[in-house]
Amino acid sequence: MKDIFFCPEESNFYSNCLENFVLRNSSDAECVEFGSGDGSPVISSLLRNKFEGVIHGFELNDSACKVANSTIDEYNLTEKYVISNSSLFESSHLEADYLVANPPYLPAPDEDIYMPLLFGGVDGASITNELLSLGYENVVVLVSSYSNPKSTIDHAKENGYSVSNFTILPLKFGYYSSEPKVKKHIEELRKHKMAFYSGDYYFLAGVLFQKDSAREVDLSNELTQAITSL
Ligand SMILES: C[S@@+](CC[C@H](N)C(=O)[O-])C[C@H]1O[C@@H](n2cnc3c(N)ncnc32)[C@H](O)[C@@H]1O
Repeated sequence: MKDIFFCPEESNFYSNCLENFVLRNSSDAECVEFGSGDGSPVISSLLRNKFEGVIHGFELNDSACKVANSTIDEYNLTEKYVISNSSLFESSHLEADYLVANPPYLPAPDEDIYMPLLFGGVDGASITNELLSLGYENVVVLVSSYSNPKSTIDHAKENGYSVSNFTILPLKFGYYSSEPKVKKHIEELRKHKMAFYSGDYYFLAGVLFQKDSAREVDLSNELTQAITSL
């Protein structure tokens, strides 16, 4: 299990966000998922909901991909959840209603960390911001308070997105974010107002970004206020 992302609290939160922001609203949506991990968040949300759409997942980690595909088989979900062992960034653009992800968001000086595939660039926001540059109409993504969250909200706005909905979970620094090299780097980012946390806790936000044409409200200011409040 060591080389597969493992953080049940975070994965469950992501699963609930998918359920509330996607599956319940658009029961026949086509979705693309970046970084499926062992597939458990999507699988458990599919098992809890009647969903007629399809989710195309991308996962670079071979072992995670194998585990995910065997669980998908076990639950007879092969028509609803399909995972490729490749990077979304290297695939030709897939049309979809939603892009969803609990993306790699660890900030660090370089990718030589416990799990290099969790590296989110020097400020932690690089991959998230890249996902918000792909042009999908609706994007559901987890945003961490220690990964330069203001840059993500600004980047989303520059790319024509508003924040339609969000929910916040306080989380304790875990195995990956407590690695000394990562933690020290996060402490540095905090001095530059690029990381927000208090003691052992940080915030993880599940955010629904929608292109301005689709949105009804814009909660960008509320999200900025909430996620930087620690
Ligand atoms: C934070 S984990 C989330 C895993 C799972 N979605 C969950 O919430 O439990 C991020 C995942 O993204 C994968 N990943 C990183 N870079 C990737 C890329 N370029 N393409 C596809 N997957 C990638 C990692 O291997 C890791 O499994």
